Amino acid sequence: MAHQALWSGRFKEPLSAIALNFSSSIDLDKRLYQEDIAGSIAHVEMLAAARILTAVEARRIRTALKAIQKEIETGKFQLTGEYEDVHLAIEQRLIQKVGPLGGKLHTGRSRNDQIALDERLYLRTAGKEIARLIVQLQRVLLYKAEKYFGTLMPGYTHLQRAQPVMVSHHLLAYVSMFERDYERLHDCLRRLNKSPLGAAALAGTSFPIDRQKVAKKLHFDGIIENSIDAVSDRDYLVEFLSVCSIIMMHLSRFAEELVLWTTKEFGFAQISDAYTTGSSIMPQKKNPDMAELVRGKTGRVYGSLLNLLTTLKALPLAYNRDLQEDKPPMFEAVNTTRQSLFIFSHILVHTTFDKKHMEEELQNDFLTATEIADYLVRKGLPFREAHAITGRIVSYCIDHRMYLGNLDLDTLHTFSKLFEPDIFDYMLPHRSVEQKQSTGSTSPQEVKKQIVHWTRVLKKRKG
Ligand code: ARG
Repeated sequence: MAHQALWSGRFKEPLSAIALNFSSSIDLDKRLYQEDIAGSIAHVEMLAAARILTAVEARRIRTALKAIQKEIETGKFQLTGEYEDVHLAIEQRLIQKVGPLGGKLHTGRSRNDQIALDERLYLRTAGKEIARLIVQLQRVLLYKAEKYFGTLMPGYTHLQRAQPVMVSHHLLAYVSMFERDYERLHDCLRRLNKSPLGAAALAGTSFPIDRQKVAKKLHFDGIIENSIDAVSDRDYLVEFLSVCSIIMMHLSRFAEELVLWTTKEFGFAQISDAYTTGSSIMPQKKNPDMAELVRGKTGRVYGSLLNLLTTLKALPLAYNRDLQEDKPPMFEAVNTTRQSLFIFSHILVHTTFDKKHMEEELQNDFLTATEIADYLVRKGLPFREAHAITGRIVSYCIDHRMYLGNLDLDTLHTFSKLFEPDIFDYMLPHRSVEQKQSTGSTSPQEVKKQIVHWTRVLKKRKG
């Protein structure tokens, strides 16, 4: 048993294969080998600077650790189930390579602060990637918003047609949502970027280590001061998974809209063949599977968040082995969020909107009924009365199987004498959109403002 040598003193018999198999986390935490080695190198350099190790010792350990990293990357050293976790595997390999000197690496350190460090380093990188993918998606949305500027579609409430809106306006709503996700992510990364290393098992260490120095080497903005806190809390991960959950919630709503829009019933959009699939039995089918999968995978990320919260609930301080169970939700949520953002940009690039069909649908409906009510208000009626009159007009149209566009002035006069010929202009969907005055509305000027704003914001952004 390879790892047993590390603490064989206390035990009279080795860990049973069954117990090792049950408790090993290496299948998952082997993904943290880079972070683990980077942390060890920073630690050993600090030990030398603090004269706890000699410069020669530190250099030998550092060189060996770098060699181990290569061995892992080339498959020469395999992180397999014979080790309990990635930390012990690497330490064991180090001792194999440099002899008893390798045993000095763990001076003033514990796996408890080591794993908290590795996770923070991992999330820092994953967070940057997710941020980049959010920006990429925002850019695609902005591109589409510019491309379809001027195209109208029915806007909905309760999934019932409500008022005409610009397609660009709808798409830009998602740009704002993803902007908040981006901000939330950075806020989380800012709080997360503190080093727990040097907390040791829970109480700190009697060696004169320099925690700040290690933190600096690893580009942290300081340390988690309280050693018990540093090894026991996983709130940084809870926050990260919350951010991922919110991103997935936004993606899933959008995915749902794409699924709806690409049905015959809506007919608003088409996703190109390369991003849709057929049916094994029904030759006519073209299914929006990628969007459905994004919607479906949202459950994995919410599940991960709840999984983690449940693991943490009621855990006494400080470290408990339960905490090892934070790995499955961490990797699951990070991978799923990354993949989903990535595919979504691609789906969207390959989505086209059917301008003609959407605008036809706007004609054949009652989406500008609010404009009629507002028209009467401008002629002096209280809004509630205007609303009632317009409601009666809509009801009349439904009874006579017609739409607002089919009404003539004589018919309108039977409802109110206030109508004049200009009412027909007010009922046009384009006019409805153009008439909007309020900040952030769907009027072309306001939508243009948004486009200008986001172009400026996204141009400045890296990635
Ligand atoms: N594999 C462990 C984890 O992920 C590392 C820390 C183990 N610490 C311990 N005292 N057993 O949590």
